[in-house]
Amino acid sequence: MTIRVVIYGVGPIGQLIARVALERGFDVVGAVDIDPQKVGKDLGEVIGLDKAIGIKVESDADKVLREADPDVVLHSTGSFLDKVYPQIMKAIRVGADVISTCETLAWPWYRYPDLAELIDNYARNYGSTVLGAGVNPGFVFDALPAALSVTLTKLDKISVVRSLDASKRRYSFQKKIGLGMTINQFREALAKGEITAHVGFAESVLLMANMMGIRLDRVEEGQDAIIADRHYETQYFKIEEGQVRGVVGHGSGFVGNREVIRVELRACVACEDYEEIRLEGDPSMLWRSTGTPGDPATAAVIVNLAPRILNVRPGLVTLKDLVNYAFTGQT
Ligand SMILES: NC(=O)c1ccc[n+]([C@@H]2O[C@H](COP(=O)([O-])OP(=O)(O)OC[C@H]3O[C@@H](n4cnc5c(N)ncnc54)[C@H](OP(=O)(O)O)[C@@H]3O)[C@@H](O)[C@H]2O)c1
Repeated sequence: MTIRVVIYGVGPIGQLIARVALERGFDVVGAVDIDPQKVGKDLGEVIGLDKAIGIKVESDADKVLREADPDVVLHSTGSFLDKVYPQIMKAIRVGADVISTCETLAWPWYRYPDLAELIDNYARNYGSTVLGAGVNPGFVFDALPAALSVTLTKLDKISVVRSLDASKRRYSFQKKIGLGMTINQFREALAKGEITAHVGFAESVLLMANMMGIRLDRVEEGQDAIIADRHYETQYFKIEEGQVRGVVGHGSGFVGNREVIRVELRACVACEDYEEIRLEGDPSMLWRSTGTPGDPATAAVIVNLAPRILNVRPGLVTLKDLVNYAFTGQT
């Protein structure tokens, strides 16, 4: 069966998703974006193919979804569920499944319990399955450490460090971590929501805990700027000594007063690319990689999950439901 997908959001991540979907033989039946630079253009042109594919980027999502009748909507317009849920509702109303890169949708009960209930009820009524996924949340800080933990008979603590060179990431990533700002500008912009830095530390901690069957009493998260000790330059930003070169942040999960889960991100210009997962228990273990390439890997995750979500029960689900389905055939 050829899967019919609509690309909802044709920013840098949506463009990568569209490319992977086309390469993998999905039937791309519609594209939605509100950016006037993209609306009215052929999707092939917007994503940098040298040919038109006969699908125009349109701003009227209801019209596109009604006419295209997709099996799955691949959604990547924003990080916060209170902003993007009306878009997700539009996809639910045509009975399509939704896979979104919206970080707060990966574990929506933490920040938006009422919206989570609303989406779940709607999705069940319309026979639609809704999932938040990606690389973080969605892989490095949650699904991957949860998978590694099956090799321990006793787990005391699990810590993940992800370090990445922000100069290799897309413009929107470099902008959202405040490159080139002063520390005061960074903190003010973060507090006002003008930049987001990383979103989803708590969601990753809660998703990982749920996948491993750990009941947490409390979750904490926080982040701040990393300041440049000299001049740095990326394709998009010039950073002087004393200005923001990146972010460092963490999420922690506690049982009682004991920190049992810790995830840490360092995303800065010229930071080393690596990931390290430390499992303390019996036996203890250290896993290390040279880094997951965040943007293409996000597109791969979203597209790879599309055939799988078709078999998962309607409603608001998490990655755990998809993993369960993969192993047991049940959700
Ligand atoms: N979970 C993960 O691992 C993961 C990984 C990568 C990215 N993400 C998240 O995925 C999202 C997309 O990333 P990106 O870098 O492509 O973001 P982006 O540069 O902000 O692009 C988003 C695109 O969606 C459009 N858009 C915004 N609101 C819309 C609406 N209501 N209807 C239709 N289109 C709309 C934007 O248009 P305008 O520019 O005109 O607003 C833009 O073209 C971000 O929130 C990012 O944080 C998550």
